[in-house]
Amino acid sequence: AKFTYVDKDTCIACGACGATAPDIYDYDDEGLAEVIFGGDGNHGNTEIPEELYDDLQDASDGCPTDSIKIADAPFNF
Ligand code: F3S
Repeated sequence: AKFTYVDKDTCIACGACGATAPDIYDYDDEGLAEVIFGGDGNHGNTEIPEELYDDLQDASDGCPTDSIKIADAPFNF
């Protein structure tokens, strides 16, 4: 299983992740990215389905500040 959230403390609102993986990431009022998949609310507790794993990896690889966090278990914060 895969889970993801965006570290908004380091996100610089570059906009790459939402373009790469629009089903997973969107932006808040300040342009900072957040996880919207499944109504996650950027908590990192919503399992990302396998068909989105490529998007997930591409978004992570493309983030210039390594703000996209991915783990095999829920982040629970
Ligand atoms: Fe922010 Fe990285 Fe996305 S800087 S907008 S989390 S690609």
